[in-house]
Amino acid sequence: MNADPRLQAVVHFYDFHPISAQQILAAVAARGVERADITEEVLQHHDQDHYGGTAAVDRLMAEAAVGAGDEVLDVCSGMGGPARYLAWKRGCRVTGLDLTRSRVQGATELTELAGLSDRVRFVEGNALDMPFAADRFSLAIAQEAFAHIPDKPRLVRECARVLRPGGRLVFTDILHRGTLPAADAKRLFDGMRFSEIGSVDDYTRWLQDSGLRVEAVLDLSEEWTRILRERHAMYRSLQAQTVQRLGREHFERYDQAYAHFVGLYQTGVLGGALVRAVKLA
Ligand SMILES: C[S@@+](CC[C@H](N)C(=O)[O-])C[C@H]1O[C@@H](n2cnc3c(N)ncnc32)[C@H](O)[C@@H]1O
Repeated sequence: MNADPRLQAVVHFYDFHPISAQQILAAVAARGVERADITEEVLQHHDQDHYGGTAAVDRLMAEAAVGAGDEVLDVCSGMGGPARYLAWKRGCRVTGLDLTRSRVQGATELTELAGLSDRVRFVEGNALDMPFAADRFSLAIAQEAFAHIPDKPRLVRECARVLRPGGRLVFTDILHRGTLPAADAKRLFDGMRFSEIGSVDDYTRWLQDSGLRVEAVLDLSEEWTRILRERHAMYRSLQAQTVQRLGREHFERYDQAYAHFVGLYQTGVLGGALVRAVKLA
């Protein structure tokens, strides 16, 4: 058990998240697909827990120039959607790291069902203290997860440590675009378990301090504002299922937290970006 209460809160949040391996398998069954017939092509419509689905992974793959020979680390891999998609599309080997045991178990089960266990595996662990040797990976990716992690300089140092010289770190994250009022930061932690939200300038400094050179920053703020409005509507459309599974109080609490989050995008307080950096030799 991790001693930091902020990390424990993240684990609890994902243990009771409305999107789970169980919910993915129910959605697949509702499409009339038998368990034995599950493939990556089927799963990829349901298992991506970031903004923009597989199109966003395609963009990240293009930015990262992922090849079959890459040894990829997916930091905060969730239910393993991007990890499986990368291995399936590019033939590379992918290791997913996630703090939440139920996510690691769900990701492992889905990967076995998709027949990708020879190339994709999942490890339970903290991104602030990764259970990997130095210089182990040629590419590290992450999507919409770093905002959950406190002590970003240490997170970035850990990513740099496990990358080989010349290795790339390509990630997307929730960012603030100036200042984030303390009251909003508190509500974001209470509702969404975002422990620390940085800006592009913060990341540029943290990356440089860890021996990485920033090569590209793509501003995704407008795109995410639209996507988040849609995701919130989708969450509301799952009301009956969520209330049945987790109770009305849980549904309403998350609904209000999401409305606040989307509002911060609409007023330009929050945004998002894709960042590509390379570890200097
Ligand atoms: C929004 S999900 C993203 C999942 C995945 N990247 C995707 O796109 O489908 C965020 C994930 O980050 C994980 N996470 C949060 N803090 C972490 C930490 N300190 N170390 C490892 N994983 C963490 C959570 O358990 C959760 O599964």
